[in-house]
Amino acid sequence: IPQGTDLRAEIDRLRKERNAVILGHYYQSPEIQDLSDFVGDSLELSRKAAETDADVIAFCGVRFMAETAKILSPQKIVVLPDMDAGCSLEDSCPPAQFKAFREAHPDHIALSYINCSAEVKALSDIIVTSSSAEKILAQIPKDQKIIFGPDKHLGGYLKRKLGRDMLLWPGVCIVHEAFSETELLKLKAQHPQAPVAAHPECPPYIVDHADYVGSTSGILDFAKTMPGDTLIVATEPHIIHQMQKSVPDKNFIGAPGADGNCNCNICPYMALNTMEKLYLSLRDLSPRIEMDETLRVAAKKSLDRMLEMAS
Ligand code: 13P
Ligand code: SF4
Repeated sequence: IPQGTDLRAEIDRLRKERNAVILGHYYQSPEIQDLSDFVGDSLELSRKAAETDADVIAFCGVRFMAETAKILSPQKIVVLPDMDAGCSLEDSCPPAQFKAFREAHPDHIALSYINCSAEVKALSDIIVTSSSAEKILAQIPKDQKIIFGPDKHLGGYLKRKLGRDMLLWPGVCIVHEAFSETELLKLKAQHPQAPVAAHPECPPYIVDHADYVGSTSGILDFAKTMPGDTLIVATEPHIIHQMQKSVPDKNFIGAPGADGNCNCNICPYMALNTMEKLYLSLRDLSPRIEMDETLRVAAKKSLDRMLEMAS
């Protein structure tokens, strides 16, 4: 990239030239969020990807999200600025082991969190996101046995909240796992009036202190409507950018990790996407998500069920 290139202007030019839509997750850097055509949670981004009439989707998120866009919109070119933008939940659930787990429990259906590979989606009956999981679970008969993967904390939260007995895959998100209960309690003591909003990927010892538990979009909505002027935010701290834009007169504090600040909770995978890489991905239409058609069709079944049941 020539020195002095105005990346923002070049991205805008290429977006028009390529008839591209830029979809961004709340965990992306503020500059990427600000130039995205749409910023949302996993469910909203999947819906946008399924509906768009753009020729190119530049997905500023992690690989499973870009793969989901390709599964739902196969005729589109889907680029991911950095193909190494993975997810610890996806890594925790190798398809061969998940297949063996399923086969060991033939009388269970497999409900899977969207944070998994296309192969695991193909092995699943229904996909859920954090914003749709409760609604979808409520539609599954009470006597139906369920395995839930790969996030044991989201699964545990759903089990406790809805009183459903599910067999859990032992995966975790390394970002939400890094919050410290001791440091959170210290922060709460400093701001006794401030509510806590937490993502359900957090361990139970964090979720138990939360006044609101929900997806990134849910947490953002809570920030807009909550009482008081200060909120403690127990999810990836880049979402605070969106909160400050929507509710500039309120104060948002990222929940701390063991070192007492929230920087250890930055998602290292999301952070791989940069303005430079976004520009290059639009210029070169690469790195591109490509998928075997048999796998895509198999994975689409469980995603389609999510979209039907969540609507
Ligand atoms: P949501 O945006 O759907 O809440 O998901 C959070 C997340 O961790 C994405 O990887
Ligand atoms: Fe995966 Fe956690 Fe990063 Fe989300 S925040 S992409 S769940 S590692």
